[in-house]
Amino acid sequence: MKYLLYILIASALVLLSACSSSDESSQAKQEKAGEGGGLTAFQLENGIGPITEKLNVGEIDPAKVKKGEATFVAKCAPCHKLDKRLVGPALRYVTKRRSHEYILNMILNPTGMVKEHPEAKKVLAEYLSPMTDMNLTKEQALELLDYLRSVRKEGEEKKIPEVPLFRSAQP
Ligand code: HEC
Repeated sequence: MKYLLYILIASALVLLSACSSSDESSQAKQEKAGEGGGLTAFQLENGIGPITEKLNVGEIDPAKVKKGEATFVAKCAPCHKLDKRLVGPALRYVTKRRSHEYILNMILNPTGMVKEHPEAKKVLAEYLSPMTDMNLTKEQALELLDYLRSVRKEGEEKKIPEVPLFRSAQP
C-alpha cells in the first residue's frame, strides 16, 4: 500500500514538472510575440491568409496578364490606380515592395491582413479605409499578380516614377 503511494507521489511530481516546463515555453512564445505581433517570420514577410508557403510563380504569363487586367479594371480600379494614390496605394511597383505571397494574401484575405499583420495595419493607418473582401479565387489572384508584375516591368522600361506608399515619404 505504501509502495503504491510512492508511485502516486512520483507520478504527480513528473506531471507537475511537465506542466511547469510547458508554462515556460508559453512564456517564451509570449516574449517572441512582443517582437512580431505573434507572427512567424514567414507571415511577416509573406502575409497571413491562404498562402502559407513560397510559390514559384515562374515567368509572367501573357494570358494571365490579360485576365488579371480585366479583373483589375472591374474590381480594383475603383480604389487603386497604378501611378496615383486613390482610396488605396498606387500599385505599379507593389511587387517591388511586397513579396508575391504577401500580395496574394492581401488580395485573398484583406480583412485578416489589416487586423493581424503589422505592416498592413501601418498602411491602413495611412489610407484609413480598409480594403474590402472580394471573394476572389486563388486563380484570379494569381492572374492579378501576373498583371501587377507586368505593369512593374512596363514602368521600369518606360522609367515611370514610383509613387511613395506614405505621404511622409513624398519629396
Ligand atoms: C474599397 C477599396 C479597395 C478595393 C476595391 C481594393 N483595394 Fe486594395 N487596398 C485598399 C486600401 C485602402 C489599401 C491600403 C490599406 C490597407 O492595407 O487596408 C489597399 C491595399 C492593397 C495592397 C497592399 C499594398 C501595399 O503596398 O501594402 C494590395 C496589393 C492591394 N490593395 C491590391 C488590391 C487588388 C489587386 C484589388 C482588386 C482585386 C484591390 N486591392 C481592391 C483599398 C481597396
